[in-house]
Amino acid sequence: MTTEGAALLPPLPPLRIGEYTIPVPILQGGMGVRVSAHRLAAAVANEGGVGIIASVALSLASKYYEKGKDYYKANVKALIDELQMARASSPGGIIGVNCMVAIRDFEAMVRTSVENGAQMIVSGAGLPLRLPEFAMANPKAALVPIISSLRAASLLAKRWYKLYKRLPDALVFEDPNRAGGHLGVKGREQLFAREYDTDVVVPELAEWSRIEYNDEIPIVTAGGVWDRKDIDHAFSLGAKGVQMASRFICTYECDAHDEYKRAFINAREGDVVIVDSPAGLPGRALNTAFTRTLFRGGEVSNTCIATCLDACRCRESKETFCIATALHRAQQGDLENGLVFTGTNAVRHTGMVHVHDIFQELLHGIPVHPVPLP
Ligand SMILES: Cc1cc2nc3c(=O)[nH]c(=O)nc-3n(C[C@H](O)[C@H](O)[C@H](O)COP(=O)(O)O)c2cc1C
Repeated sequence: MTTEGAALLPPLPPLRIGEYTIPVPILQGGMGVRVSAHRLAAAVANEGGVGIIASVALSLASKYYEKGKDYYKANVKALIDELQMARASSPGGIIGVNCMVAIRDFEAMVRTSVENGAQMIVSGAGLPLRLPEFAMANPKAALVPIISSLRAASLLAKRWYKLYKRLPDALVFEDPNRAGGHLGVKGREQLFAREYDTDVVVPELAEWSRIEYNDEIPIVTAGGVWDRKDIDHAFSLGAKGVQMASRFICTYECDAHDEYKRAFINAREGDVVIVDSPAGLPGRALNTAFTRTLFRGGEVSNTCIATCLDACRCRESKETFCIATALHRAQQGDLENGLVFTGTNAVRHTGMVHVHDIFQELLHGIPVHPVPLP
């Protein structure tokens, strides 16, 4: 290992979430469909962070899925496989699963996760009011909802305590102005509003946790975290950890196709766009052939393949596109017909690196040397 150019950085404090002490306070953000599966999750867990498998539509690239057959059963089997493979590659690491509330098999994904060794559930895309009930099979599994306001945090904590005598083990604040994927605001008009900014909401949440809950609910911040400067800034706002997703895409361990990663390496300033997802939320994505077709009103696949979302404009009124198909195709390397979600930092990718190198940079200031894709 070369330490050339290393800067002397103070150690990052470990992060306590529920039963777990996470040596490096970094959660890898869940990235569906199958962008963060067992390989990326295990690699991050082996570095001392939390590796997260995104559970959404996992079966589409598995041997279990057959068109027209039971998509939901196939998802359960595919998730069990991913959890087993992640555990085999990271016997001592902390492995979690990202489950989305807006997805029809949210409950099944949570139950399957906790019954099959997931140590943490990070839940996005909606308020997980019944999560403690679904995760009951393993009370040690840490429950970490993603929220985008103090109001949502307070409502959830009160509700869980009243119904289940349990608090969230941590909360991830996801900044809709910077994060990738579905964004936690009702419409595009609310994007870029200062009230959702990390610098505003994280200090509010940290103070709320301290005053109301004696600091028992650590705040983790997500969206736009790329380097050590961003992590130090998050800590200065009161966060106890960060969740990072886009940074891990151009790694050898990321579970997406090389063409998917190439799209990031080739991305230029202005290539990050907002799409209207059939889920009724805005989503942040890379400008690709697919989004260009979408924006000019061209034909994109709108055949529902999985009835995956609770409410879906594609299934219900043939508007927009089938999101499961679009995300799956991109993950398989079909950028013509696939949707590539990304945070605002997409354009910072210049080549391929190992997950280990990213951690060396973040923890010890050892510069990474991205390698072009052949
Ligand atoms: C490709 C991609 C897919 C994502 N998929 C999911 C998902 O399935 N569930 C979820 O809760 N969040 C998802 N997200 C959001 C991330 O987990 C994360 O919170 C956010 O992107 C953090 O911002 P960053 O990408 O700037 O680090 C996704 C983000 C990206 C870039």
